[in-house]
Amino acid sequence: MKLLPLHTLVLLSVLHHSGSHSDGDGRCVPLFVRVGGSTTIKCNITNSDQDGVYMYRRHDEKIREESVLYYYIDGTFTPEAPYRGRVETNKDFRDFSVSINNVSKHDGGVYWCRFNKQDLYSISERTCLLVQSGTIQIDKEEADCKLFIYWGVIGGLSVIILLLVVLLVKLCCDRGNYTPKQQQPSNGVYEVMRGNTAKALTNPAYESTQRRTHSDLS
Ligand SMILES: *[C@@H]1O[C@H](CO)[C@@H](O)[C@H](O)[C@H]1NC(C)=O
Ligand SMILES: *[C@@H]1O[C@H](CO)[C@@H](O)[C@H](O)[C@H]1NC(C)=O
Repeated sequence: MKLLPLHTLVLLSVLHHSGSHSDGDGRCVPLFVRVGGSTTIKCNITNSDQDGVYMYRRHDEKIREESVLYYYIDGTFTPEAPYRGRVETNKDFRDFSVSINNVSKHDGGVYWCRFNKQDLYSISERTCLLVQSGTIQIDKEEADCKLFIYWGVIGGLSVIILLLVVLLVKLCCDRGNYTPKQQQPSNGVYEVMRGNTAKALTNPAYESTQRRTHSDLS
C-alpha cells in the first residue's frame, strides 16, 4: 500500500511521456530493425484530409533534417536518392506509413512526416529507428568469437593459477629445505661451541692445565 503513490507516479509519467510524442520536442517511438531487414514507420495524424506529405529524417542533432520522400495525393511518389528503390508507402492518408527495405546501418535516426493541406501543416509523431548491426549469421560468428575469447580467458587464467600454485609449492618446499639446511649447521656450531665452553668450564683438568700454565709462566 505504501508503494502505491510511487507506482502511480511512474504510470503517470509514462502516460505523459507517450502522450507527448507528436509535439515535436524530440521524443519518439522507438523502432528496432536489423541491417538488411525491413521496417514500417507509421505517420499517424488525426486529420486525413491532406494534399501531400513529406517524410523527414534527422540522424544527428547537429545536422539539419533531410528529406526522405514526398508523396502527393495524385499518386506522385518521389523518394530521395539514398532511399530510391527501398521505400514504399501505403498511399493512405488515414493511416499513412512508409516501409523501408534492406535497411542499412546508416538509416538510423528520427523519422517524422509533415502533411500539408494547402498552407496548413500537420506533423506526425516521431519514430526513432534503431538499426541493430549484423544479421543472425554475423551474430552467430560474433557469439562464436565471444565464446572463443571466453574460453581463452578461462584457459589463460587457469594456466596462470596453475603456475602460481606450482610456484607457491616450490617456494614452500624450498623454504622447507632451506630452514633445516641453514639452521641446523648454525645450531650445530652453536651446540658444539656451547658444548666446548661448558666442557671447558666444567672440566677441572682443563682448568688445572690453564692454572698450571699460568703459574708456570709467572
Ligand atoms: C492514430 O491516431 C489516432 C488519434 O491521434 C488514434 O486514435 C489512433 O489509434 C492512431 N492509430 C494508430 C495506428 O496508431
Ligand atoms: C542491400 O543494400 C546493400 C548496401 O547497403 C547492397 O549491397 C545490397 O545489394 C542490397 N540488397 C538488396 C537485396 O537490395
